[in-house]
This record gives sequence, C-alpha cells and structure tokens, in this order.
Amino acid sequence: MSKPFYITTPIYYVNDRPHIGHAYCTIVADVVARSRRLMGEEVFFLTGLDEHGQKVQQAAQAKGVTPQQFCDEMAPHWEQLWPKLLISNNDLIRTTQPRHKLVVQSILQKLYDAGEIYASEYEGWYSTRAEQFLTEKEMGPDGKFPAEYGEVARLKEKNYFFKMGKYQDWLIGYIRDNPGFVYPDYRRNEILGFLQKPLGDLCISRPVSRLAWGIPLPFDAGYVTYVWFDALVNYVTAAGYGSPAFERNWPADIHLIGKEILLFHAGYWPIMLKAAGLPLPKQIVAHGWWTRDGQKMSKSVGNVVDPVAVVEAWGADALRYYLLRELPVGSDGDWSDANFKLRYNSELANGIGNLLNRTLSMINRYCDGVVPQPTAPEPVDDQLRDAAMTVVNDYPKYLMNMEVHQILSDISLLLIRRGNLYVQECAPWELAKDQAKRARLNTVLYNLAECCRFISVLLTPFIPTTAEKIRLQLGLGNNPASFADVQRWGGIEHSRPIGEVTQLFPKKQ
Ligand code: MSP
Repeated sequence: MSKPFYITTPIYYVNDRPHIGHAYCTIVADVVARSRRLMGEEVFFLTGLDEHGQKVQQAAQAKGVTPQQFCDEMAPHWEQLWPKLLISNNDLIRTTQPRHKLVVQSILQKLYDAGEIYASEYEGWYSTRAEQFLTEKEMGPDGKFPAEYGEVARLKEKNYFFKMGKYQDWLIGYIRDNPGFVYPDYRRNEILGFLQKPLGDLCISRPVSRLAWGIPLPFDAGYVTYVWFDALVNYVTAAGYGSPAFERNWPADIHLIGKEILLFHAGYWPIMLKAAGLPLPKQIVAHGWWTRDGQKMSKSVGNVVDPVAVVEAWGADALRYYLLRELPVGSDGDWSDANFKLRYNSELANGIGNLLNRTLSMINRYCDGVVPQPTAPEPVDDQLRDAAMTVVNDYPKYLMNMEVHQILSDISLLLIRRGNLYVQECAPWELAKDQAKRARLNTVLYNLAECCRFISVLLTPFIPTTAEKIRLQLGLGNNPASFADVQRWGGIEHSRPIGEVTQLFPKKQ
C-alpha cells in the first residue's frame, strides 16, 4: 500500500486561547492537505494539543481543578475552532491521551536501554518563583538575576540527560547534504548558524517535586519527562508508532511550524529520531509571524485578532483567503483590518463574486439558464484558455515548493482578472443585440462558464465553501472537485441548466 502524504502542525498549548497565528499555521497546512487530496493523493493531516507542563499545572491549581480537568475544559476551544475554519485534519492528538503516554515511555525506555540517556547531577541557579534553573542569559550586567525571579539559590539536582551533543556533527552534515530539509533557505542558514555553538546534552527530566504534570520516566518514577521531549513525539504517536500502521505513515512529509520553534524541530527532533533509529521527516517548513498594525499581538495590549470573531463577521473563506493571499510561507505578515476589507471587497466581492454573477446572470438572460454550445474560438478565447491552463500547470510545481501563496495570487491575478477583462472585451450585452452574433455570444458565455468551473476546482483547497457554491451555481451538482477535471479546457457540458444564482460575497464595509 502506498504511503499517505503526512503533514503536521505544531501541537498548540492547550492553556492558550486560539489566535490568528495558530489559525494561520493550521490553515496553511490545510491548504497543502486539500491540494494533495485534490490531486488524488491520500493525505494524513495531523494537528493537536500540548497539554503537559508547568503552565497547565499552575493554571489548574489557580482554578482549583486537576490538571486533567483543566485540559478537558480547554481542549474544546481548539477542537471546536478547527471545523469553523474548515480544517480537514484527519486526527487531533492530545498529549494526555494514553496512546501518547505509551509511545513517549516506550521511546524513552528504548533510548535509556541503548545508553542514550544517562543520569547526572546538575548544579545551577534555581528560582523557586519561576520554578526553573536560570542561566547566564537571564543574569543582568551586575551579575544578579532580575527581581522577577525572586530568591535565587544554588541547587544541586539529579536529572536525566539525552546524549544530544554527540550527534551534532552528524546533524550539520545532514542539513548540508539535504538542502530541502529545512524550508525556506534562510531558516536553513539560521539553524546551521545555530549549530556552530555546541548543543550539549539535553536535560530531559524534571523531578516530580518540581513538576508533577508530565509523563513519568519509565525507568525512574521520581521524574517526569521534559515537555518538548513529550511534545515532539506526538508526530510518531499519531502515525501509529508500535503498530503496523507506522511503517506506512512514517516519516512525515512536512512538519509545518512557526519560525520560533525551529531549533526544536530541525535540531532536537532529528537527533531524537536518529538516536531511536527512526527515519527523519522529509521537510521542516517554518512560516513567519503575524503582527497587527505593525505591533506584536499580545493579550496585555489587547490587540489579538480572534479568528472566531473574523469568521463570524466575514466567513471562514474570507479569513482563509486573506491569510493565504497576503504573504509567502516563511515571511512575516501584518494584519490590518483595513487591508482585510480591501482584499475582501476588491478580490472576493468584485473579483470572483462579480465574475460568477455576471456569467450566470447573462446565461439566464440570454440562454434561458442553460450553458450554451460554443463554436470556433477567437484569439481572445485562446488567451482565456491559456491563462487557465498556465495556472493549472503551475499549481503542482508551486505546491511542491510550498509556494501556496503564489498559486492563489495566480488564480486571482492571472485567471479571475483575465475572466473579468474577457467580459469587458467581449461585451456579451452588445453581442446580444444582434441576432447575427448569436453564435459568438454563445461561445463567450460558454467560455465564461468554463472559466468559472476552472476557478471552482482551483480554489477548492483555499476557500472550500465558496468553491462548492460556485459548482452548485454552475449546475455541476455535488460532484467533488478534482484536479483531473481541469486538465482540458472545454469540460463543462453545454445544454445543461445552471443552478440558482446567489451572491458569493456581499459587499461590506
Ligand atoms: N506547544 C508548542 C509546540 C510543540 S510542537 C511539537 C508551541 N505551542 S504554541 O501554542 O505556542 O503554538 C506555536 C505555533 O503557533 C507557532 O509555531 C506558530 O505556528 C503559531 N503561532 C503562534 N503565534 C503566532 C503568530 N503571531 N503568528 C504566526 N504564527 C504564530 O509552541
């Protein structure tokens, strides 16, 4: 059996409220997943929740509930968000699930048995208030730690360490030899730069006295495992580690992440896999960060964009369109309400909405609501067809290169704009005045319907609800869109009635 295309998002901290940055990452992954499915590939698309650690333990304590109860109360915010954003994930993993605990423990045991994990005394500056060891990075120029850490004392503690350092040279070589492993290139350079400094061994345990909310080390019940060790393993848990499904699903094709967690994914994770004797993911794709009106989004500033509020006001498709259209995967983006409205009105309402509406209204008016039969094409028809075929031909290439932004801008700028221009150039309302131009009118309206059909297929991964509406209005029924349907221009059947015409994107301010 062939392997499904396996794409993941980071697992989000369950204690956070979902915001536009989380939505962005998951929507990009969704567009890739849906595009692959459109091309007939089987896809396994995973997202999930990161539920262990200090913050959850503290938040639960503050609320007077158990950490598990707290997670169970928070998880639905996330589980209910994804359908609202039309996310087509196949699985949603929670790190508190028994399936995950078993896998984390089995990998820890395997590494321990192989001598990859050892116990050692660690001595350092410990802040009881922050409940963590501090390093020189936190130390002020006066050699003291900032007041927010409270009392800081020397502490000696036994912990378990993963022999990460010995794999450093191997990893550098791997990243050098596999230029596609980290995308975009500038992130690959960043990680290679980072690997100039010694990685050292990784402390992978926390004594239960300090942190109880974690997965116990299988070989020492006095400790739980470090959250990142636990979190990264989610990708193999969901792939079915320990069962026959794993052979089929693993390795992941793409781990999509935000740029701030690159070191964990392109540094720690490959080394963990290598030490455990498992194949590496094919690619780590790091996207940029969204700001709002040039400012970092934060709860305290109160400028966080809430994806649910945007969906309620504008619809999920408008949100998806804006996030995807605005920037290439990798670059940082800046959210502005004004820009959002501008894109909505100019590209969705005036662009796609208008093209479909004009096309169908004219088919109703001049052809009794039936797709007309075309005759010999003129050069302007060929231009429209060529634009459509160019977008189709470039789609897989851009998809393989993670340039999903380019696909959407081509659909918008090459095809939809071309379609609207075609209407202006051919002026069907003029043709309709002259009975002798009937055949030409039919050809023009046929081509417009065909153009809308292409658009409906190509837009399916980006704005699935709208794409389906276009198909229904064109009279294509409920047949799911497929990339195979846009390999040839002229596929829309003539002499078939169109559906009921409604507005796709009402103009709004
Ligand atoms: N739990 C870890 C990830 C573990 S993966 C094994 C974590 N979670 S998180 O809730 O903080 O989510 C991080 C991800 O959310 C980022 O990698 C990024 O994809 C997304 N974003 C969070 N804020 C963002 C922006 N402002 N802009 C874009 N995406 C950002 O880290």
